[in-house]
Amino acid sequence: MQAPSVQVASAAAAVLVGTCLGRRCASSQQRVGAVAPTVRSFAETAALSEALGRAVAEASAAAARRGAPFTVAISGGSLPKLLAAGLLRVPGVDYSSWRVFFADERVVPLDHADSNYKACDEALFSRAGSGASKISADHIYAVDPSLSAEQAAAAYSKHMQAVFGVPPSGTPEFDLVLLGMGPDGHTASLFPGHPLLDVSDRWVAHIEDSPKLPPKRITLTLPVLNAARRVFFVCTGAGKAANLAVALGTADGSVPAGLVKPTNGELVWYVDDAASADYRAAKAKPSGEH
Ligand code: 6PG
Repeated sequence: MQAPSVQVASAAAAVLVGTCLGRRCASSQQRVGAVAPTVRSFAETAALSEALGRAVAEASAAAARRGAPFTVAISGGSLPKLLAAGLLRVPGVDYSSWRVFFADERVVPLDHADSNYKACDEALFSRAGSGASKISADHIYAVDPSLSAEQAAAAYSKHMQAVFGVPPSGTPEFDLVLLGMGPDGHTASLFPGHPLLDVSDRWVAHIEDSPKLPPKRITLTLPVLNAARRVFFVCTGAGKAANLAVALGTADGSVPAGLVKPTNGELVWYVDDAASADYRAAKAKPSGEH
């Protein structure tokens, strides 16, 4: 595992200012062969959204250049609005090639206030593109809320098998997975110390005791997240600072976000300066001091 690089970005430009957290970079628990994370920290969320939007548009264009659909998994929380604020300003994105899954989803009706589908639809899907460049409703893979959480997870895997054309024994490779991190360090619906962190025999798992409500959810598992071509984390606010520093340093099951390290893919954290404060402070300390 290589050391993370960090860029502290002003509204207009990103500047490479450093590359390492000292000894904490050399964690033995980081995945061998995983690509080093890049941390892009912004003073303003508007600038974060702009950079994120451009990067997502470029990922979509890269799939188009390969002549392939763009497979993307999206999270809930603050991410849909932060993403939409930047992406919808990028001209020329062909959303008709998008195949949209949810990195995690609450098993609630699709018009429920807790539905990640609803949040993404309102912020992004319904507004993205026009005419032939819009996302087809058939290409947005929503959870089936009429099922139990366990059944919904199994049904969701089947949708993924159909789109990716990969048998259950293989692992689908998303072009892009967009993740958030909760103040407790959870990502998708993978919570600190929870048995779901050890699941490696399924693409999609269910949870019925989520510490963050609502309790019934489905989530992509770590092997799927780590098989992605790109993972972009989006993380803002001082409440995330302590666990962001842990996720970028010595990761263990206490901060699940730190376990997401795509084996061969790109990993970029889009954060604001409040969230990256502890990380940047640790990086600024002389080597060996923690
Ligand atoms: C969910 C999310 C979850 C989210 C984090 C961060 O549906 O609960 O997918 O993993 O990304 O909790 O949420 P915030 O960005 O709102 O802090």
